[in-house]
Amino acid sequence: MSVKKLVAGNWKMNGVSADLDQIRAIASASRGYEDVDVALCVPTILIDRAARAVPGFSIGGQDVHHAEKGAHTGCTSALMLLDAGASLTLVGHSERRDAQRESDAEVKAKAEAALSVGLNAIVCVGESLDIRELGSAVETVMGQLDGSLPRSLEGEAELAIAYEPIWAIGTGKIPTAPDIAQMHAAIRRKLRERYGSAGAGIRILYGGSVKASNAKEIFTIADVDGALVGGASLNVEDFIPIVAAASGR
Ligand code: PGA
Repeated sequence: MSVKKLVAGNWKMNGVSADLDQIRAIASASRGYEDVDVALCVPTILIDRAARAVPGFSIGGQDVHHAEKGAHTGCTSALMLLDAGASLTLVGHSERRDAQRESDAEVKAKAEAALSVGLNAIVCVGESLDIRELGSAVETVMGQLDGSLPRSLEGEAELAIAYEPIWAIGTGKIPTAPDIAQMHAAIRRKLRERYGSAGAGIRILYGGSVKASNAKEIFTIADVDGALVGGASLNVEDFIPIVAAASGR
C-alpha cells in the first residue's frame, strides 16, 4: 500500500526566536511539495510562536507527559501541546529513552495520551550498535513495539512509527538498504498483527543521518513512508532537498 510520505524534522534542543525565519522558509518551500506531508518538531517553548508564524504548516512537540494534568513539575501535557498549536508529537525518541530512562510502558502511555486529545504521535524505536552487531536488531525493535504501541487506534489522530537505529543518529552512518527493508517489513507485520488492516496505512519513517545525499535511495525502499530528520532539518537548504526526494523529484 502506498501512502503519502511524511518528512518530519526533529530540531531537538535547537531553536530560538531568531530561527523562526528558518521555519518560515521551510514552510514556504514545502508548499511546492503537496504530495508530501512536512512537519517540524521544535522545542516546546517555541511551539506557540512557530505555529503562529506558519499557519497551516504542521508544528510538533518532541515529547509529552502521559498524564492529563496535575503535579508534574516542568512537564507538558498533550492538551497543552495541542493548545499551543502543535498537531503532532514525537514519543520515545532514543535520546529520551536513554537520558530520561523512558520505558516502553511510559512511551505507550505517552502515545495514548497524545492520540486521546487528537495529537498525531510518532513512536520512535531503534536498536543500539551492540544489539545490531549481536544480530538481534529486529527482535529488539519488535520487543520495543510490543511495549510501546498504543492499545488502539480509535479517533482521528494518526499514529506513525520512526525506526531510528541509535548508532545512525547524528553519526553519518546508515544501515544498508536491505537492513532497512528487513526492519520496516518486520514493523509492518507487527502493525498488521496489532491493528489489522489499519496497520497497513500507518506510516513507518526511517530516521538516522538522513541527508539530501542519501534520501532518494532511502525513499525507494519498500515500506519506508517518510523520514525523521535531525541535523539536516535545521535549515531550509538541507531540509527541502529531502522533502523533494520524498516527492520523487
Ligand atoms: P539525525 O537525527 O538526522 O541528526 O541523525 C535523527 C533523529 O534523532 O531524529
